[in-house]
Amino acid sequence: MTAGTNAPQDSTYPVPERLQTGKPTPYVTSFDQYKTMWEESVKNPEKFFGDLARDTLSWSKPFQTVLNGSFAQGDVGWFLEGELNACYNCVDRHAIAQPDKVAIIHEGDEIGNVRKITYRELLQEVSRLANVLTSLEVRKGDNIAIYMPMVPEAIFAMLACARVGAVHSVVFAGFSSDSLRDRIQDCGARVVLTADEGRRGGKNIATKRIVDEALKQAPTVEHVLVLRRTGSDIPWTSGRDLWWHEEIEKARPYSPPTNVNAEDPLFLLYTSGSTGTPKGVMHTTGGYLLGAAATVKYIFDYHPNDIHACMADIGWITGHTYLLYGPLLNGATTVVFESTPTYPNPSRFWELIQTHRVTQFYTAPTAIRALRRLGDQWLEGYDLSSLRVIGSVGEPIGGDAWQWYNQMVGKNQCAVVDTYWQTETGSIIVSPLPGATPTKPGSATFPFFGIHPQILDPQTGAVLQGNDVTGVLAISQPWPSMARTVYNNHNRYLDTYLNPYKGFYFTGDGASRDKDGYIWIRGRVDDVINVSGHRLSTAEIESALISHPAVAESAVVGGQDDLTGQCIHAYCTLKPNIENEAGLEKELSLQVRKVIGPFATPKRVYVVADLPKTRSGKIMRRILRKIVNNEQDQLGDISTLADPSVVPMLIDKVHLK
Ligand code: WTA
Repeated sequence: MTAGTNAPQDSTYPVPERLQTGKPTPYVTSFDQYKTMWEESVKNPEKFFGDLARDTLSWSKPFQTVLNGSFAQGDVGWFLEGELNACYNCVDRHAIAQPDKVAIIHEGDEIGNVRKITYRELLQEVSRLANVLTSLEVRKGDNIAIYMPMVPEAIFAMLACARVGAVHSVVFAGFSSDSLRDRIQDCGARVVLTADEGRRGGKNIATKRIVDEALKQAPTVEHVLVLRRTGSDIPWTSGRDLWWHEEIEKARPYSPPTNVNAEDPLFLLYTSGSTGTPKGVMHTTGGYLLGAAATVKYIFDYHPNDIHACMADIGWITGHTYLLYGPLLNGATTVVFESTPTYPNPSRFWELIQTHRVTQFYTAPTAIRALRRLGDQWLEGYDLSSLRVIGSVGEPIGGDAWQWYNQMVGKNQCAVVDTYWQTETGSIIVSPLPGATPTKPGSATFPFFGIHPQILDPQTGAVLQGNDVTGVLAISQPWPSMARTVYNNHNRYLDTYLNPYKGFYFTGDGASRDKDGYIWIRGRVDDVINVSGHRLSTAEIESALISHPAVAESAVVGGQDDLTGQCIHAYCTLKPNIENEAGLEKELSLQVRKVIGPFATPKRVYVVADLPKTRSGKIMRRILRKIVNNEQDQLGDISTLADPSVVPMLIDKVHLK
């Protein structure tokens, strides 16, 4: 299969007028300029990133060696000998230069519940908390678990860890107590930072109770520091539990930062792999910070006075890199959003953009599709003219959702950046640059500086040269923000990323390079379906289904088939007010046939009420695949789903016909 089968990819959108002639002028203003910079960055990464690291970050001790090690050896390190402190870079230097600038805008769960924190205040808050951690005998290199709602104190917590050289392990506050327990056990945290309760979408969440449950089997934890968020009654273990506000009151509002080596760990972030147990992906300090800072500058085209709003939760890598580290390293104002896109109604994002005059807005395709499905009337009357760059991350956005985002949110005047990356890559690796890259809806376009992507033949590992090729996506040389290891399991790191194709970092994603050299991410390779020798990406079939006016969301998985090897099973949900009429499933099947070709005709289409999703909104295709393959007795752990009750309904739908 070649790129070019999906209609929207043939249309190219030039850099919008506003980014060409408006102010501020983007950092990179032409595709040629991008190309020249990219070539320098991959030909001479030591010079490119050495200069960038000196310009972008403040070092307490300069580095001598820019890059050491290789993929083949699995021992990559950047900026050796260099020393720095992440919190100093994010906070102190801006608190000194521009103390009254707002660092954080907290948009609380209820509209109008806004709190602004200047860089001066941020330095005081973080210093106090760092002193509290020190008083609890937290030292450089200790692992600290953070399980908190989206409040400014969650940011203080991460930065305070960094300030004392401790390693934060943020666990998304939507995870169950079992998942939290597993993560605390794996990293052996001695201290947990949490809150009495969370608040989201008008509801209280029993955060501290979940922590207590998890700690029944986490003997390493000596102290739990509890933020008072809602003031509700909560269980308390005296001696172990401490009130945040009481400890803070005793602490001095300045603490000297602990400088660490560039290769000392900054954080762990657990992410799921193909097996059940989560991996503690480890990022180090110097390289990670450089990737975060540089991508905010170039991909979000951050300029002074911009208001950067990343809607991700701090429990995910997107929250780490594009809510906290990247924006603050640039001295930006960053928005912390506590609520949901639909609370109290589906205008919430637009209300937020209008109120705070947001310039960079970053969200996920799942949110974009959900809002699109709820109707355009929710955008009416909102002034979104402050926006300059609107971003998407997490999964292939697909042509239709891209178009909607561009027209309805960007008003055809914003750069749409479809940013491709992973927890393991630390920062964005494939994306347009706002002032430089003509876009194609659904394509993440071109590599960021220092990223040398290759498309490999999945079977032989051979590099597929030239354009119009499809295979698996690998990266052929190290970049500063790549993960260095899996905590306590370096072999798993090697086996997952560096051993599958020797000499490359393997992303696990399928990708095409089209006739014009644009990169199209085709989804995880475990989602590739091979029907009678035709290789198909589930994302492509899904986008065909979504182009049908009745369909809201779809998920496609491969089933086993005696005749064709694999066959296509498609699950679809419908837009509101659309009935599942007789013949619709057949019609949807024909739709795929029409858009992609007869070989792509699904064997079965199931119109269902909902799809199994993680709490971050990712569709769990593994579950859908097991159901169609009659393996519903081997579904594994489904407790991390946002709504586990979806599963029996799907089993009935597929098997009770
Ligand atoms: C997918 C999220 C297509 C991809 C930052 C990757 C994407 C996985 C995109 C990593 C995109 C992320 N287009 N697919 N723009 N961005 N992905 O670790 O399959 O939560 O491997 O990191 O999300 O997910 P993770």
